[in-house]
Amino acid sequence: MVGHILITGGAGFIGSWLARSMLARGLDVRILDDLSTGSVENIPQSRKLSFIQGSVRDPQSVRKAAEGAELVIHLAGLTGMRLAHALKKESFQIAADGTACLLAESPASARLVLFSSSAVYGLTAGEAISETLEITDASVCSYDGGEVGYAAGKWKLEQLALQAAESGRQVLTLRPFNVVGPGQSPRYGMVLPSFVRRARAGDPLLVYDLGEQTRSFCDVRNFCETTMDLIDRPKAWALSGSPINIGNPEQTSIRGLAEMVIHEAGSQSKIINKPYAQVFPGRTDVQHRIPNVARLHSLVGRPTWMGIREIVRETLNCEGHPETKWSQHPIS
Ligand SMILES: NC(=O)c1ccc[n+]([C@@H]2O[C@H](COP(=O)([O-])OP(=O)(O)OC[C@H]3O[C@@H](n4cnc5c(N)ncnc54)[C@H](O)[C@@H]3O)[C@@H](O)[C@H]2O)c1
Repeated sequence: MVGHILITGGAGFIGSWLARSMLARGLDVRILDDLSTGSVENIPQSRKLSFIQGSVRDPQSVRKAAEGAELVIHLAGLTGMRLAHALKKESFQIAADGTACLLAESPASARLVLFSSSAVYGLTAGEAISETLEITDASVCSYDGGEVGYAAGKWKLEQLALQAAESGRQVLTLRPFNVVGPGQSPRYGMVLPSFVRRARAGDPLLVYDLGEQTRSFCDVRNFCETTMDLIDRPKAWALSGSPINIGNPEQTSIRGLAEMVIHEAGSQSKIINKPYAQVFPGRTDVQHRIPNVARLHSLVGRPTWMGIREIVRETLNCEGHPETKWSQHPIS
């Protein structure tokens, strides 16, 4: 590559790991991040990396960061159920307006990797959800309690991606399913780091309802390798913005995860159950969220995913996390 790689949201969890992967390949990286949930402490130190503090909704910041970029990886956004619940409108706007701004202000020659989310599947809880599932505005909004929020923002991002591809941009759209691992903050309601923090402290682990909900967790480093692999495949770019599920299809129940964390931490913590609707009024929890990865496998083969127990152990072994802007918001 001749130009640099721009990573929006690169001071966050996935973005900082992707930056490390890019640097390990000897590539030049630029990060654009407003540090609303991310932190400079997450950003790897390297003379091949530069950081611009600014918002993806600010055309001037985006223009400056994207100038000369060959590849733009767009991760900036609000993540985590607590933020998605407390800041519905902002979650939508950052995804929708941020993506529109990025498309308008980045060089037309720059390839774009856009991060959507499995949240666009709304409350659909089939065995393994395929990209071919029909999605409507109503089904998307069911994720945010029937309102426009995080999921609708990601759905808008996907539509903008398709339009950009139609007008000749090279676009890759990814739908991640529960990425976890070392460095993820517990502050915004991500389940694994929240359990880990509580188990370490000997505090009770809060499980919504009976904990029979299942998720598929994938390790962030496997996730980044798979993303890099997709970026290297012309076949993936040939999809012209059609989304690709990316995640480990192994299912884990939330109760099973809580028990595993307590066991691996050697903790005396107890599990307490609380109705989901009491914690997030007006919302319904997604019962199962498992990706159909046939499309992913057809593009990169079958990735080797780290098992959940190993991920739990590695997450337990990593240190705490810095506090940032949204930590001032009354969400804990
Ligand atoms: N972690 C997951 O399991 C998961 C699953 C599905 C989708 N995603 C998507 O992947 C992306 C990254 O997720 P993450 O887990 O690393 O979250 P994260 O919160 O750790 O990272 C997001 C980063 O975006 C930055 N940011 C937020 N608003 C911004 C703005 N307006 N301008 C510039 N920067 C801004 C934050 O400061 C943060 O550094 C997000 O778009 C998220 O929706 C993540």
